[in-house]
Amino acid sequence: MCGIMGYVGSQQAGPILVDGLKRLEYRGYDSAGIAVNNGTIRVQKAEGKIANLQALLEKDALDGCIGIGHTRWATHGAPTDANAHPHADPSGEFVVVHNGIIENFQAIRDELAAAGAEFSSETDSEVLAHLVAREYDGDLVAAVRKTVALCEGAYAMVVISQREPEKIVAVRKISPLVIGLGEGETYLASDIPAVLHRTRDFLIIEDDEMVIVTAEGARVETIEGDPVVREVTHIDWDAEQAEKGGYDHFMLKEIHEQPTVIAETLQGRLDEDGTVWLEDVEFDDEYIADLTGVWITACGTAYHAGLIGQEIFRRVLRLPTNVEYAHELRYADPIIGPRELMIAISQSGETADTLAAARIAPDHGSRMLAITNVVGSTLSRYADDIFYTRAGPEISVASTKAYIAMLIAQYLLALRLGAARGTVDSELAQRVAHGLHRMPGAIEEVLSREHEAVAVAERIVDADDVYFIGRGLDYAIAMEGSLKLKEISYLHSEAMPAGELKHGTLALITDGVPVVVVLTQRAVYDKTISAVQEVKARGGMIIAVAYDTDTEIEKYAELVMRIPDMDDLLAPVAAVVPLQLLAYHVARLRGHDIDQPRNLAKSVTVE
Ligand code: F6R
Repeated sequence: MCGIMGYVGSQQAGPILVDGLKRLEYRGYDSAGIAVNNGTIRVQKAEGKIANLQALLEKDALDGCIGIGHTRWATHGAPTDANAHPHADPSGEFVVVHNGIIENFQAIRDELAAAGAEFSSETDSEVLAHLVAREYDGDLVAAVRKTVALCEGAYAMVVISQREPEKIVAVRKISPLVIGLGEGETYLASDIPAVLHRTRDFLIIEDDEMVIVTAEGARVETIEGDPVVREVTHIDWDAEQAEKGGYDHFMLKEIHEQPTVIAETLQGRLDEDGTVWLEDVEFDDEYIADLTGVWITACGTAYHAGLIGQEIFRRVLRLPTNVEYAHELRYADPIIGPRELMIAISQSGETADTLAAARIAPDHGSRMLAITNVVGSTLSRYADDIFYTRAGPEISVASTKAYIAMLIAQYLLALRLGAARGTVDSELAQRVAHGLHRMPGAIEEVLSREHEAVAVAERIVDADDVYFIGRGLDYAIAMEGSLKLKEISYLHSEAMPAGELKHGTLALITDGVPVVVVLTQRAVYDKTISAVQEVKARGGMIIAVAYDTDTEIEKYAELVMRIPDMDDLLAPVAAVVPLQLLAYHVARLRGHDIDQPRNLAKSVTVE
């Protein structure tokens, strides 16, 4: 996610802004820039690392004691110098940095263009600078307020202007924003680590609030202009803890970010009635109606997300859907028809095997849709259609929030394809939309029960092997739970369909062997319970992931990790979370390097 930095005081702003941006580097970015006001606002920005920006500033430093800065993680438009922030209106008098997404930016841009505006970037952010300039009538705060009223989406935006050179005006709508209070100087940042070495006193800005920042301090208001009294928060964390948002590891932070990730992945894409809007998906209803099948290809956790997609597409679209490991598919000489859609899933968009498998699609005359988290990644460049997951940079090697976003992407695709094929009626569309919109709250609920995963972790920490079972969607979740556990705890684990146990693996179930059963699919509940009984009869230790209202499982399970009752179709999104937490806590108890597990890389760019 993008980083934001701001400074107003008596020191030169440039070096402070660059220093703050560097401290936000861990969030990931692909370009950086600053703007400083010294009577005239000047901007320097560059694609790539902050070192590129620093090289520009060494040749041509920006003089002035008030400024804003930004590290960009591309969402609209490739990572280029032109798309880097800050963005100015054509007069250069109003300059903006922005995090998040302006959903209706295309309509605003069209309207501004019709009135003669010219744009120097492809970003949604640039329209903000144009709007603030247009709405300015002697009061910057009022102009920003009017701008916000015209914009839909989730974002944080920060504005400076030559007309009112003593202040920074900022707004928070979901994307984070904090104010650091110094002596005769004030800082603004998207995240505490940017300025923690300069101050420990912060004002945390909440959603739908506006803040007017000067060297003397900050005034917080609601977006409507009502005053807000905000207590100062004193932060005791050290710098490393602060980067992790106070969590011990990035993995745990990312697990806890999942409610926000789901909300951001859904943002502007799903109406209450189930209508889906996908900005980079170009195919039309006629193409969808003619489809004869879907192929999904990916590796690792992304492949497990694909298993969920396969089941959803089969169930909801009644469309033959194959999911294949990319490293298998690329050498399998598959029979893919021109009326079959290839979906390649990759967080990084750089996994060598996934890229190779995805490239099979054009050879067969079929379209390739990429589900990826990285704008401008190689996979996105190969793709005919793209679904960007908006999970933000994932730093932990073990993938969690990116996986959840991949699931959300596939639910939305299923609704989009199903509407055009007539297999999703309005009742189902509304049901799924309702469930997805409520999912961030449901995941918060699951996260609040982290102690259940801790209790299970304490029981299995010394086990030699752990087995994961489930049926249908639960089997796909079992696969992901097992991978999470093995990759960071180094404990051997294996997942299988519950019905497969008796065909061999049951021989390994003896006294106390842990078997984790995922039990969210009501249609096959009794069948899965039969497998549970087989395990129990051999002394195995049953650990379950089950709905709140499932009392039956208490007869068999020693420990249960609960999720709220919900639609079975959507349950995988919630059911994976206790398993992520379980893997995390087992690894923690075993004392491993959780964010950098041995022998693994975040992006596997070699075959
Ligand atoms: C597991 C994990 C890996 C990746 C796999 C594919 O936690 O992170 O299994 O999922 O290497 O990576 P992407 O999604 O970048 O193609």
